[in-house]
Amino acid sequence: MSTDGVDKSKRRFLTAATTVVGGVGAAFVAVPFLKSWSPSAKARAAGAPVEVDFSKLQPGQQMAVLWQKKPVWIVRRTQETLASLASNRDHLADPDSAQSKQPEYIKGDARALNPEYLVTVGICTHLGCSPTYRPELVAADLGDDWMGGFFCPCHGSKFDMSGRVYAGVPAPTNLEVPKYKYLSDTSLIIGVDEGAA
Ligand code: FES
Repeated sequence: MSTDGVDKSKRRFLTAATTVVGGVGAAFVAVPFLKSWSPSAKARAAGAPVEVDFSKLQPGQQMAVLWQKKPVWIVRRTQETLASLASNRDHLADPDSAQSKQPEYIKGDARALNPEYLVTVGICTHLGCSPTYRPELVAADLGDDWMGGFFCPCHGSKFDMSGRVYAGVPAPTNLEVPKYKYLSDTSLIIGVDEGAA
């Protein structure tokens, strides 16, 4: 969906609303999730698959889990976010993820099995910092082309709400999408996919 002609005041309202929801979500979902996920330390060290219950995740919220010692984010995208994903392609370095690390079954602007939920490794592909979740559709500090996403303050890399890197920033490729599959409508497993034995 093109955003040309979008009423700026409406976008700013959406920005404020999304920011609040996202901020609350980060604190709200972290505790219940960490209680629900308890593989042994030995299994974690071995990089065992990780089950994620995301039933409490609300639109606009992000949650994080550890897999192979790396943070993996699950982000529930709003309808406004989903509608914006195709309109920012000209600002991205690799909009089709041709150079980026992701399973072959992850395709399209959403980069997800279910477009509503982004699953991505939360490590910047530049030097390994963890970017900040910035879901607002407009952000004065991130430029006119900002459509929501992830900002890495280490050296200024920007990623959209599908983890696709902007052109002209230090990070060379999109955020990694791990292999994963759904176990139910409200749970998934990271580290295995339908091709697993
Ligand atoms: S580590 Fe992210 S911009 Fe350098």
